[in-house]
Amino acid sequence: MNATKLTIPNRLMRRRHAEKPDSVMLPGMPAGSSAKPHIAIVGAGNLASALAAELRAANYTIDEVISRATRESIRKARALAGKVEASATTIDCARFRSGVIWFCVPDREIARAAESLRNVADWKSKIALHSSGALTSDTLALLRKRGASVASVHPLMTFVNGSRPSLEGVPFALEGDPKAVRAARSLVLNLGAKPFSIRREHKAAYHAWGMFASPLLVALLAVTERVAGTAGIKRKEARERMLPILRQTLANYERMGAPLSFSGPIVRGDVETVKKHLKILRGIPPAREVYLALARAALRDLPAKNRSELTSLLSPGRR
Ligand SMILES: NC(=O)c1ccc[n+]([C@@H]2O[C@H](COP(=O)([O-])OP(=O)(O)OC[C@H]3O[C@@H](n4cnc5c(N)ncnc54)[C@H](OP(=O)(O)O)[C@@H]3O)[C@@H](O)[C@H]2O)c1
Repeated sequence: MNATKLTIPNRLMRRRHAEKPDSVMLPGMPAGSSAKPHIAIVGAGNLASALAAELRAANYTIDEVISRATRESIRKARALAGKVEASATTIDCARFRSGVIWFCVPDREIARAAESLRNVADWKSKIALHSSGALTSDTLALLRKRGASVASVHPLMTFVNGSRPSLEGVPFALEGDPKAVRAARSLVLNLGAKPFSIRREHKAAYHAWGMFASPLLVALLAVTERVAGTAGIKRKEARERMLPILRQTLANYERMGAPLSFSGPIVRGDVETVKKHLKILRGIPPAREVYLALARAALRDLPAKNRSELTSLLSPGRR
């Protein structure tokens, strides 16, 4: 067997076999060129840091990391720019030579950031992207009016300070003007990720789904730690001791789906056990609320025995 073949990283192997990206013509690209467009990133937070590093690793040139002009914003932009061989610039001093401008700012700031950049660049033929899961490409309508082609490009992934997830195989929801969507699709494929189309009217529901898949799952884990505290188990110990059951639950879910992964007193119909839980949780009202909401959801969507007794025990009237 050829040893060199074995050393090729999985991500490159997969990228090689990935769907072929379209080439998109952008300002500064010669006719017939299939070169990768240059990119400017606005913001230097969690998404920007992960995205810039992945784009650089996929041989994209990041021209600029553009920030607000506060000392802390500039410091973060400089740190990120240094890692991806880009310049750190502020909104007023940005050069805007890139064909793609990617807004990686909080949802509430996207329109404001676009507004602040409206007159400092010639937007004709540029691609402007944002990465909000909930907002549509219309949040960049100001730039569309100035000649840009705009899209929303949302990775269904969690990015937090201190962790840089691979984008390999990560679904990206795309929506917007055809030219910008084509450009975004090509970028996403070159990252080894999986683009898919989302209808603009589905974006809020799509993002609510994403909210359940990570942020609310973490909120559930935080509540879980609080309940462990009532059993005399400290937060850190709870986290360590829960990991095997959490991992197995996810593994079961991955292999068999939700109904076959569902264990515990509801699927067994152990009504008295659920009663005991509800009684002890009176001492932690926020955890009791979460328990009731999830147990009712389980009765709606998952297998259960003694369903009618459990339904009446968990009904809002039975507080
Ligand atoms: N984090 C995730 O897991 C995740 C996942 C998918 C999609 N997204 C999307 O990615 C986008 C960014 O989220 P994030 O989590 O990366 O946020 P973040 O970590 O809070 O970073 C936001 C960045 O934007 C900068 N910024 C804020 N207002 C600005 C403005 N008006 N002009 C220029 N820069 C500005 C901030 O810098 P200063 O405040 O220092 O100026 C900061 O560098 C959001 O649309 C979010 O929905 C995030």
